[in-house]
Amino acid sequence: MKIAIVLGTRPEIIKMAPIIDEIEKRGLDSCIIHTGQHYDKEMSDNFFKDLEIKSPDYNIHVGSGSHGKQTGLMMQGIEEVLLDEKPDIVLVQGDTNAVLAGALVASKLHIAVGHVEAGLRSFDITMPEELNRMAADACSFMYFIPTKESAINLLAEGISRKKLFITGNTVVDACFRHLEIAKKLGIQEESLANLNIADMDNILTLTMHRAENVDDKDRLISIIEALKQLTDMNIVFPIHPRTKKTLENFGLFEELNELSHIHIIKPLGYLDFLVLTSCSSLILTDSGGLQEEAITLDVPVLTLRYNTERPETVSAGGNILVGANKKSILDNANKIINDAEFANKMKNAENPYGDGDAAAKTIDAIEEAYDKGLLNIESPENIMHSFNRRMMKVNYDISVENFEKDENALVHLVFDGDEMIFPEDDLNLKGMMISYDIYQ
Ligand code: UD1
Ligand code: UDP
Repeated sequence: MKIAIVLGTRPEIIKMAPIIDEIEKRGLDSCIIHTGQHYDKEMSDNFFKDLEIKSPDYNIHVGSGSHGKQTGLMMQGIEEVLLDEKPDIVLVQGDTNAVLAGALVASKLHIAVGHVEAGLRSFDITMPEELNRMAADACSFMYFIPTKESAINLLAEGISRKKLFITGNTVVDACFRHLEIAKKLGIQEESLANLNIADMDNILTLTMHRAENVDDKDRLISIIEALKQLTDMNIVFPIHPRTKKTLENFGLFEELNELSHIHIIKPLGYLDFLVLTSCSSLILTDSGGLQEEAITLDVPVLTLRYNTERPETVSAGGNILVGANKKSILDNANKIINDAEFANKMKNAENPYGDGDAAAKTIDAIEEAYDKGLLNIESPENIMHSFNRRMMKVNYDISVENFEKDENALVHLVFDGDEMIFPEDDLNLKGMMISYDIYQ
C-alpha cells in the first residue's frame, strides 16, 4: 500500500509528523508532497529536522499569493505527482489551501482521500479555513476526527458513520513525544536561556497570524493596546511572517518592538516552542493548533477570536474567547495572573483530544480498509438509496451494530432526549430517536 501525504504549512508538518512516523515504523510505502506554501526555513525545513521526519519527496514551490493562484498552482502540481505515484490513499490535514487542493485533485482522480482533523466547524464562512474544511470534507473518503463533537458535525452533514474514525488529534502525539525529547536533550534550560529574559516567572506566549486579526488595522491596534498594558507579564512573541509584514506596513512594528515587556523573536522550532509554552503562565493566540496544545500542556489560553472550531476547549474550561476586544483581553489575562483558583481551574480542564495515539489509530483504520479492498472507489449501482430514509423511536434493547444487521440498515442520526449523540457500534438504542437508511 502506498500513502501520499500532502502538506504545505507549519501546522501541517507538525500534525502530520506522527503519521509519517507511524507509516515508517510499519514499513509502508509513502510519498510526501510539500506544496511550498510555507518556505522560510523557520516555517518549514526546521520542522522536518526537529520532528525527525524524512524530507518531502516533492516540493511544488507555490510560494505566497492570492488564494486562487495558490490553490490553482497546488492543484496542478499535486495532480502531476499523483498521476505518477498512483497512491492508494492521499492524506490531507486540517484546513489550509493544501487541504482543499489535495482533496479536490485526489477525489477527481478517484483516489481515496483521508482527511486528518476532519469535521471541525467554526460556522464562520468568512474564514478561508472554514471553506477549505467544508470542501475537503465533501471530497473525503475516510475521516480521522479528533472528537465526538466534530464527528457529529459530519453526521449532520449526511456523511456515513462507517467512514468516521474518532482518533483524537495527532497534535497530542507530537506534543507528548517532543516535549519528552526536549527534556532529555536538555533543550529546556538551553532554549529558555536563549530567550534572554531576566524574569522567567510570568511568561505570556503570544502568537497571532489570522487574516481577520493581523490584516485588519483596527483589530490589530485593539490587541496591541491590551498588550501594552500587560506590563506585569514577560510577553514572548515568536512572530509569524505574515504578522511581521502587516505590522511593518501599518507602521506599528517599531513601537511594539521597543516595549521592554514584549520580546519579539523569530518563529521558534518545535522543541523550543514546546518548552516555552509549557513554561508559560498564559497563552494568548489566534492559532488553531495552539488552542489544542494549551489544553494538552495544562496552560490557560485566551483565544483572540470571536468563534472557534475547537469549542471543546472552551466547554472543558481551558480556553476563553476574547476576540480582539481590549477590555476582554485585559480582564481575563489579569484574572488568570492574579486569581490562582481561576487559573488552576483552567489548567485542570480535561484534554478532549485523546491520549497521543491518534496516528496509530489513523494508520490502523487505513490498513484495515486497504486489506478489505475498501479503498477502491467505484460508482454505485443503487440509485434508490436516498429514498429509503426512515426515523423511529427504539423501544427495545439493541446495539447500533445489531440494529444495522437485523434491518440491513445504516444508522445515521441518534437523539438521546434532545441531545444528538454519536452512534458507536455498541451503543444501546433503547429509548432513543434514530434516523437510518435501509439498503435495498
Ligand atoms: C496559512 C494558512 C492558515 C494557517 C497558517 C499556519 C491558508 C488559507 N492559510 O496562513 O490556515 O493557520 O498558514 O501558519 O492556507 N510568508 C513568508 N514566509 C513563509 C510563508 C509566508 O514570508 O514561509 C508571508 C508572505 O508574505 C505571505 C504571508 O506570510 O503572503 C501569508 O502566508 P500564507 O501562506 O498565504 O498564509 P498564512 O497566514 O501563513
Ligand atoms: N509553533 C512553533 N513555533 C512557533 C509558533 C508556533 O513551533 O514559533 C507551532 C505550535 O506549537 C503549533 C503550530 O506551530 O503546533 C501552530 O501553527 P500556526 O499557529 O502557524 O497555525 P494554525 O495552528 O493556526 O493553523
